[in-house]
Amino acid sequence: MILITGGAGFIGSNFVLHWCALNDEPVVNLDALTYAGNRANLQSLEGNDQQRFVHGNICDAALLAKIFSQHRPRAVVHFAAESHVDRSITGPEAFVETNVVGTFRLLEAARAHWNTLQGADKAAFRFLHVSTDEVYGTLAPTDPAFTENTPYAPNSPYSASKAASDHLVRSYYHTYGMPVLTTNCSNNYGPFHFPEKLIPLMIVNALAGKSLPVYGDGQQIRDWLYVEDHCSGIRRVLEAGTCGETYNIGGWNEKANIDIVKIVCALLDEMAPASARQVINQQTGKPVEQYAELITYVADRPGHDRRYAIDARKIERELGWRPAETFDTGIRKTVAWYLANQTWVKGVIDGSYRDWVAQQYGA
Ligand code: NAD
Ligand code: DAU
Repeated sequence: MILITGGAGFIGSNFVLHWCALNDEPVVNLDALTYAGNRANLQSLEGNDQQRFVHGNICDAALLAKIFSQHRPRAVVHFAAESHVDRSITGPEAFVETNVVGTFRLLEAARAHWNTLQGADKAAFRFLHVSTDEVYGTLAPTDPAFTENTPYAPNSPYSASKAASDHLVRSYYHTYGMPVLTTNCSNNYGPFHFPEKLIPLMIVNALAGKSLPVYGDGQQIRDWLYVEDHCSGIRRVLEAGTCGETYNIGGWNEKANIDIVKIVCALLDEMAPASARQVINQQTGKPVEQYAELITYVADRPGHDRRYAIDARKIERELGWRPAETFDTGIRKTVAWYLANQTWVKGVIDGSYRDWVAQQYGA
């Protein structure tokens, strides 16, 4: 079986759902259920024993030791993290705790387990650390995209904590010979994305007639990847990646934030016209005709990275992976998913997903 951390979050839950759809290998899913963890994401696995959910913290060394000795995973895929840059600016400590200390505890528990393995089992063990392109810092408009050799230059407490965790993972390969893999991925989007992040926030706010807050001049560039493609990239690296190596994963899809927001508005105009839904502009009290009317430029994020771009040629060359979705197909699926899953959205917005968890699973 494999151990997943953070499998109730956005990418982790997509990964668990696809894993269970694609093969029979059991998954133990360890998640602390912070505000970002939502067991409703995994509701379709109710009654499916392939996934065993453990509510717990990756900083808890005793719990980790118990999980490793009880389940003896052949691999760890480590998603659990504090992931939101804005939250890392207002409250960096949780990022150091989970992303740095938590990753360290998980590495220690994995190392102790790996040391008990023999022969082929020991050689086949993998620790895959899911990281971000933000560790590389920011690019000027004409700079080449980040490669695996770009020096680390993190600019936010979030990216600094992820960079620290990447360094720890690397050190376990060089010092102990532990079979680790690291992936550095660009911005994901798709189903179950928590609506504090750009794309789901814009969809949710637009449908509610709320303003669409664009930081600064909106010309910051991100490289967007559909979450299912990220999951397939991780599976490929887990299956065939070379231990000790890092792999950049990206969508070959650089776009300015303001263009993303306009694309989302145009899709909503087409798929859920404001006039038909009688959406009222919460600022003016007037009916909304086109969602782009709600775009509002607000103060910039402190230390805001201007541009990210991923050079994903290594994973393509060495492992034959390329994204399956274009941005046009992925964003259309995403907007459609949010429109079809308004109950999920409502539960997240009003916090009732926590009540559902309490009711469903007890305290
Ligand atoms: P998320 O915030 O949606 O989910 C994080 C999950 O981790 C939640 O379920 C949360 O409950 C859990 N968690 C947090 N602290 C924990 C702890 N101490 N112990 C156990 N579980 C804990 O994050 P995401 O967007 O799904 O990102 C997953 C991983 O991918 C992160 O490591 C992130 O750095 C990385 N990543 C994200 C993106 C992106 O665009 N979202 C891109 C590249 C890399
Ligand atoms: O690049 C990978 C990273 O992508 C991941 O490591 C992070 O976990 C993930 O959160 C994401 O970070 P970003 O900061 O790029 O994502 P976010 O959705 O918060 O913001 C995307 C861009 O949109 C960024 O330039 C800030 C801007 N933005 C964001 C919000 C929430 C706005 O203009 N307005 C907003 O309200």
